[in-house]
Amino acid sequence: MSDEIIIAGIGGSLRKESYNAFLLRESARLMPEGSALKIIDISSLPMFNADRIGSRSEVVDAFRESIRSCHGLLFATPEYNYSIPGFLKNAIDVASIPSSTSPFRNRAAGIISASQGHFGGMRAQYHLRQVLVYLEVIPLARPEFFVHDARSKFGSDGMIVDEELRERLRKYLDTLVTFTRKVSGDILESGQ
Ligand SMILES: Cc1cc2nc3c(=O)[nH]c(=O)nc-3n(C[C@H](O)[C@H](O)[C@H](O)COP(=O)(O)O)c2cc1C
Repeated sequence: MSDEIIIAGIGGSLRKESYNAFLLRESARLMPEGSALKIIDISSLPMFNADRIGSRSEVVDAFRESIRSCHGLLFATPEYNYSIPGFLKNAIDVASIPSSTSPFRNRAAGIISASQGHFGGMRAQYHLRQVLVYLEVIPLARPEFFVHDARSKFGSDGMIVDEELRERLRKYLDTLVTFTRKVSGDILESGQ
């Protein structure tokens, strides 16, 4: 891996006009110098079935490899019924097995969420944090990043129309990249 910090962007919504997908795309545009966001398409991953453990799947292998080849992760997730969408949980489950070669271990991660409601997806974020603990992902604790009332924050082209939000996202990404640089540097130094 080069000095450039590469973050894998994983979205939790299949919706064409997804605010969380908009958030990821805007993040790709706002990444600080010396870093890039690679948005990973998880829409064609199979449903996890433990009976198929050990059988090869090109799409799963490619997903695992795209996580492994990045320094850190950025999840942009909606909140469904106070949790993360099953679609996103399935993608995480699929990539996490076999656990001996899990690509998640020791990866830094940011979590952002957009919701049309007033709480900005915070309950989904806390559930996702719990899942990441088991996977030994190292989530950025603060700042937290929620977008409430998302409908009023994006234009029909998917761009953020709220200047304060764009600035907050830029700062969040700066912090995430600095954090990821530190976490991945510490891991390299410790030889893990
Ligand atoms: C099945 C389902 C459950 C939902 N549950 C919640 C919820 O618990 N809390 C919330 O704030 N919004 C909830 N919503 C609304 C979504 O967060 C909102 O539609 C959001 O814009 C979806 O994200 P997206 O724009 O990225 O597709 C739910 C939507 C669906 C379809």
